[in-house]
Amino acid sequence: MKALYFETFGSSDVLKYGELPDPVINNQEVLVQTAYIGLNFADIYRRRGGYHIEPNSPYINGYEASGIIIDAEAKHLIGKSVLFVDVPFANAEKVAVPLEKIIFLPDEISLKEAATIGLQGLTADFLVHDLGKNKPKDKAFVTGISGGVGQILAQMLIADGVEVWGSSSAHKAQVALDFGAKKVLSSRHLEWIPDYKGQFDSCYDGVGTTLKASIDLIKNKGQVIFFGMAAGTPPAIDFIELLSQSKSILTGDLWDFLSSFEERKVRSNRLFTYFKEGKIKVTEPHLFALSEGKAAHDFLENGKNVGKILLKP
Ligand SMILES: NC(=O)c1ccc[n+]([C@@H]2O[C@H](COP(=O)([O-])OP(=O)(O)OC[C@H]3O[C@@H](n4cnc5c(N)ncnc54)[C@H](OP(=O)(O)O)[C@@H]3O)[C@@H](O)[C@H]2O)c1
Repeated sequence: MKALYFETFGSSDVLKYGELPDPVINNQEVLVQTAYIGLNFADIYRRRGGYHIEPNSPYINGYEASGIIIDAEAKHLIGKSVLFVDVPFANAEKVAVPLEKIIFLPDEISLKEAATIGLQGLTADFLVHDLGKNKPKDKAFVTGISGGVGQILAQMLIADGVEVWGSSSAHKAQVALDFGAKKVLSSRHLEWIPDYKGQFDSCYDGVGTTLKASIDLIKNKGQVIFFGMAAGTPPAIDFIELLSQSKSILTGDLWDFLSSFEERKVRSNRLFTYFKEGKIKVTEPHLFALSEGKAAHDFLENGKNVGKILLKP
């Protein structure tokens, strides 16, 4: 099979594309022919060597793809459309996927849509429903509101009756205004922060370097839901200051919330329902051939994407 791989950690120059042996499945796995592969921030962290990657020679990056089951012990599964978001070696034409990690797609969700919303959508789902737990009429702020997680997270909150504000680059702000964000402020020039201090019940922060500003934006007894570092490592936080204002920081990693086949099924059904009911719409994904992996990594690292990047085998 063809795959995108690397032998040493480093810049996007380490990426190679070529022929590798097909995976061999055991009786707990199915073989998936990938249709669309999700490229995520974690793939950049892994390629640089700063994040867990499954040992393999050579390394094959990627944990998310949609596709068709082409081999399985249970023959009735062959031909089914599926998604997975937490299985290694996804940057390839074929992936051995444990049955437990398979998410079967309903007819209304296409292979392209599934890969566009999979990882970011399931992340938004646990951030909103397990951590944030905002009530209707709450006021929430979403950093990077026009990004992959940001777009879905904000629309989930809006659908649940929450008033949503956010930050974004000026040229992406319209995306969020179009789906119903109340106001979008600059993500790059933060002079507006003092004017909005203490106004929000929750702030969802996946940018990282903005963590102190996010703490400022919430009311006393409010919460920051910290979930990523798209712009870099967050600053050190003074917990005594947090305590004196009864503010909380919640954190979470998607993989801790996808702990069984049943969890994946319940959470993906909840996510797909928002899309089936037309409550969430996302921007068209940026498509790159799997052989153009370096260009796709550069595009993501340089912040050129609006929403999801997909690799096409
Ligand atoms: N905890 C989890 O389980 C989990 C799972 C998936 C993803 N994540 C994290 O979620 C975050 C978002 O991921 P994504 O897939 O949605 O990526 P994305 O589509 O690229 O969105 C990232 C957003 O961050 C903003 N950003 C980037 N650099 C910035 C800077 N220097 N200053 C301010 N804003 C900046 C960008 O907004 P503008 O360009 O509009 O400013 C962009 O919209 C990442 O940190 C990722 O690691 C966490």
